Amino acid sequence: MGKITNALKKAAEERMEHLDKKVKLKERERFIVKKVSESSVNPAIITHFDPKALVSEQFKVLRTNILSMNKGVPPKVFGVTSSIHAEGKTVTSLNLAVSLSQAMHKPKVLLVDADMRKGKMAKYLGVDQKIGLSDILEGKEGSKEAIFNIEDENLAFIASGEVPEYPSELLSSKTFKNFLSDMRNQFDHVIIDTPPIVPVTDAGIIGAQLDGLILVVQAGRTQRGVVRRAEELLYQSHSKVLGHVLTNIEYHLPEYIYRYL
Ligand SMILES: Nc1ncnc2c1ncn2[C@@H]1O[C@H](COP(=O)(O)OP(=O)(O)OP(=O)(O)O)[C@@H](O)[C@H]1O
Ligand SMILES: [Mg+2]
Repeated sequence: MGKITNALKKAAEERMEHLDKKVKLKERERFIVKKVSESSVNPAIITHFDPKALVSEQFKVLRTNILSMNKGVPPKVFGVTSSIHAEGKTVTSLNLAVSLSQAMHKPKVLLVDADMRKGKMAKYLGVDQKIGLSDILEGKEGSKEAIFNIEDENLAFIASGEVPEYPSELLSSKTFKNFLSDMRNQFDHVIIDTPPIVPVTDAGIIGAQLDGLILVVQAGRTQRGVVRRAEELLYQSHSKVLGHVLTNIEYHLPEYIYRYL
C-alpha cells in the first residue's frame, strides 16, 4: 500500500474512533440502513438502503451538479438515456430520484418509466404496478390512476404500462405533451427513463420535449464511436445533452476512506 493510502487510512481510522466516542448510539441508528433481505426493492438502489454509502455519495454529487446547473435554475423535467441497452439507465434514474427526494428541501420527485418497450422500473422497485404511461397515452387511464406513491418518500413513479403497438407514435402525440406539462406543474423534478437511443428513436422524441437528457455510458463496454453516434442522434432530434454518467467504475480505495459520518 502506498504512503498516501496509508495516511488516508490512518486519518479515516482516527476520525472513526473520534466519532465512535462522540456520536451516541441513538444518533448512529439514524444512519443504519434498511435491510436488503427484508425489502422487495432491488439492492442496486443503494441510495434507498444506505444513503451514506460511497455509491450514494456519488449520486449526491450528480444531484448537486444537476441542481447547480444554469446558475441555480436547474433542469426540472429531464431524461436519462444511453447509447445501447443495459448501460445502467434505470438504476441511475432510480438512484438519482431517491437522492433528489432526500435533499434538504424535500422536493417532490416523479420518476416516469418511458421505456414502454421493456420497462423494468416497477420490477426494480419490487411492486406490481400494471397501469402506466402507455395507458395514459392511449387514453385508457388518467395520470392520477397511474401515479404510484412510494412509501415514506416524497417520491412517486409511473410504470411503463402494457407494451403498446406504436410506442414512438404515442410519444409524438399531443397527449404526451400535455402529460409532460401536467407533471411539470405537479412536481419539483420529473426524471424520465428512456430506451437506448441507437437502436430506437424514442429517447430522441422524448428528449426534444424535455429540459435535457443525461447520457449514461457503461465504462469498459460501450465503444467511443457508439457514444458519438448516440450524441449525433440526440443532436439531430434537438435533444440537449446535460452531461454524462459513467457506470461500472471500480474504486481502488476501500470505501471507509471516502466515508464521513
Ligand atoms: N453504476 C453502475 N455500476 C455497476 N453496475 C451497474 C450500474 N448501474 C447499473 N448497473 C447494473 O447494470 C445492469 C443494467 O442496469 P439497468 O437495468 O439500469 O440498465 P438499462 O440501461 O436501464 O438497461 P435497458 O437498456 O435494458 O433498459 C444491472 O445489472 C445493474 O445492476
Ligand atoms: Mg432500463
